[in-house]
Amino acid sequence: MKLAKVVLACTLFITVACAQDIIQKSMSTMEKGITQIQQGFLNNNLELIKSGTKLVKEGNSLFNDKNVIEKYLPKDKKHMVNVAENTSRRIALDINVLELNLEVKAYLNAANAYSDMLNACSRCHSIVRSW
Ligand code: HEC
Repeated sequence: MKLAKVVLACTLFITVACAQDIIQKSMSTMEKGITQIQQGFLNNNLELIKSGTKLVKEGNSLFNDKNVIEKYLPKDKKHMVNVAENTSRRIALDINVLELNLEVKAYLNAANAYSDMLNACSRCHSIVRSW
């Protein structure tokens, strides 16, 4: 019985620790990515835009699962999990639009996709942080 409790406590601890790891990795990867994209557009540096886009894609794919997202919403915001999940989908879509526009050298449209991506970050944060 005692052992079972210890095992349960350890499992819980590891689960929480891992989830914490996922969000930190996801958010810091996306932060790096979005910063690179911004620098890329401001300095007309295509390589930075491309590498930043890859990072945002990588970070977003770590935090796009509805169950994971729900865990991080405050109790009184759990009912907004669908809205939060949609912001992650919006980021994935913006990445596609950005990449397609880069390919055809439609840089203004690509920059608009970047802006929309940034708005999607803020939209989810506004739910989490009650902004
Ligand atoms: C689906 C929801 C969601 C989306 C989309 C989202 N975030 Fe977050 N973000 C969170 C949560 C939850 C936290 C942790 C709670 C907090 O900081 O308020 C967080 C925190 C952060 C932090 C602070 C991390 C820390 O260690 O305190 C950064 C930086 C960040 N996000 C960057 C981004 C960027 C950049 C994007 C868009 C490319 C983005 N986030 C999109 C949910 C999201």
